[in-house]
This record gives sequence, structure tokens and C-alpha cells, in this order.
Amino acid sequence: MTGRIIGLGSYIPKKVVTNDDFAKFLDTSDEWITERTGIKERHIADHITEKPSTMAVEAAKKAVEDAGIDPKDIDLIVTASTTSDSVIPALSCIVQRELGVTENCGCFDVVCACPGFIVAFNTVQGFIESGNSKTALVIGTECNSNFANYEDRGTCILFGDGAGAAVLKAEDIKRNEFIMRSSGYRSDCLRCEAARQPDRWEEEGFKTATSFYMQGREVFKFAVSEVPQIIKDLAEKYSFDLENDVDYFILHQANARIIEATAKKLGIDRAKFPMNIMNYGNVSSASIPMLLAEMKQDGRLKPGMKLVLASFGAGLTWDANYIVY
Ligand code: UT7
Repeated sequence: MTGRIIGLGSYIPKKVVTNDDFAKFLDTSDEWITERTGIKERHIADHITEKPSTMAVEAAKKAVEDAGIDPKDIDLIVTASTTSDSVIPALSCIVQRELGVTENCGCFDVVCACPGFIVAFNTVQGFIESGNSKTALVIGTECNSNFANYEDRGTCILFGDGAGAAVLKAEDIKRNEFIMRSSGYRSDCLRCEAARQPDRWEEEGFKTATSFYMQGREVFKFAVSEVPQIIKDLAEKYSFDLENDVDYFILHQANARIIEATAKKLGIDRAKFPMNIMNYGNVSSASIPMLLAEMKQDGRLKPGMKLVLASFGAGLTWDANYIVY
């Protein structure tokens, strides 16, 4: 058994922040941000009505509606978030309550930065393959603006907020292959410490340590070398042809140049690498389900299509999946 995606949904915060808005308080410009990242604007949560929990609930409601299922059929909820507004309970429990899912449902969260959705997806697939879930909800939800350092022009311009969700239904067919990798040895180039450490509040640099810190160029180099490689390894491991057996490459939306470099290194037409980074920026674990939901809505995504999903981020971690949609 494998889980087939039967429903997709997303929640996008109302407030739009353009590159020109950043140029009002930072030494930056629309031209620099567009050229170096492909981003034109991003959506920023209001942090009161739009929290990771509330955005997860809204995205999940849409995915359930799109799937046409009764929430009572859901027997597993796994939510990925690195910017959760809830230490306890797990966001998945909040989603369960708000959707009216029965108590005969397992709920937990995963923390794995940008690849979080793929990690949650593969975790759910494991439950489905072992016969422990028949209908599951997988969510990626992020409020990156809570952790952005708005004095650091190299990072704050990249991030946006939002959530995406997918409903997976068990089917008697193999639809998911994957490779997951990580390198804790390279964790220093992308990090953020937990804010709630009262004994350290007076420590020099603690405030900035609790915002996203990134050595952009190092992360860029890591992404343009490891992402094409893991996709090549996936194709070799599961014996499929990158040119002929893949309809779309759905990559984490972190930087348009990373996506373009990956397409070039793989020798695949750039048109097979859809992007929405120009409108949303880097939404971390929500970026892949948000893009999938958008592609379903505008008709690009059709049943039976073969997709490569690939993501990378803090850890450092990077993963790739080959799925039949
Ligand atoms: O999902 C998490 C994974 N994260 C990523 O994938 C991010 C990967 N990295 C990147 O996307 C790119 O490295 C950035 C977009 C963050 C930066 O682009 P870059 O081409 O690597 O620039 P850089 O960091 O090498 O900086 C080049 C110059 C520097 O100025 P000097 O030292 O050459 O005078 C920076 O201070 O660009 C400057 N700079 C900016 N200038 C205008 C950095 N940020 C900005 C900015 N506006 N926003």
C-alpha cells in the first residue's frame, strides 16, 4: 500500500510585502532581490489570526474539502513546522480538534526545517505501508517572519509565511520512493536557537542567535551541488529516466537561481521546474504543498503524473521523492 494524494489545500496570509517595502528600511533594492533570488513579494502573517496553527487548520480544511472526504475518516495527522506557535500540544492535535477528527487518530509533528513536508510525507507513507493508516493528513506550516532578523538584509528578504496540506489515501499500488540525507557536520551555516532560555536573556548576541542566521553563499553552494546529486541518485536507485519518466520537478522554493542551476545540471528543460517563489518567497516546509495546491487548482497537475519532489535546508538536510500523483 502507498498513500495517493487525493486532496490539496493551502493558506496564504493576506498581507503582501514587496521588495520595494524592504528598500524603505534596508540597504537593498527590488533589482538586487529579483536578480539574486527571483522573489518579487512574499506574504507575511499578522501573528494573531495567522499563526502556524491557524494557517495549518485552514490549509487542512481546504485539502479535506478538495479530497471530498469526511474528516472522521482521517486516522493520522502529521504536521511539519519549524516555527510553531505551540510547544505543546503538537499542531496536529490542534488541527484534529478544529476539523472534528475522531479520537481514533494519531497526531504528532515533525521538525526538519524546509524539508519538513517531505519528511512528514514519508513518515505517513511508512504508516500506510505498514497498514497503520488508511487516510492521513500531511501539513507544512510556517511563520518564518517570527524568526527573521529584519536588520539582516541577506536573510530577511528571503522568507514568507503560509501553509500547505495534502490528504493521502491508502491504495494497493507503489507510488512513493525516496532518499533522505542529512549532515549535522554542516549545521553551523543555517541555525536559530530557541528563544525561551530566560537565564540567557542578558547574554551578548542572544537576541540575534534566536533569529535565523544563515551563511547564504555556503547554503547556496550546498544546494546547487547536493540537490542535483540526490535527484540523480534517486533515479539510479529506482531505475527511472529523468528526461522521460518525470512530468514535473517540484523543488523547494528557496531561490530561483538554485532551481535553474539544478535544471541545468540535470540537463532537463527548465519548463519542467514550476516556480511560485516570485509571489511567496521561501515558505520553508510549506513551499512544496503550497506549489502542489496551486498547480492542482490551475490544472497543471493531473492524476497519474510522475513527480520528483526535492527539498533542502537547515541541518543540513536534503531529501528527494519520486511519486505518482
Ligand atoms: O531554505 C533555506 C535555504 N536557504 C537558501 O537556500 C539560501 C541560499 N542562499 C541564497 O539564496 C543566496 O546566497 C542569497 C540570496 C542569500 C545571497 O545571494 P548571494 O549572491 O550569495 O550574495 P552574497 O551573500 O554573496 O552577498 C553578495 C553581496 C554582499 O555585499 P559585498 O560584501 O559583496 O559588498 C552582501 O552584503 O550582496 C550583499 N547583499 C545584499 N545587497 C542588497 C546581501 N543581501 C543583500 C540585499 N540587498 N538584500
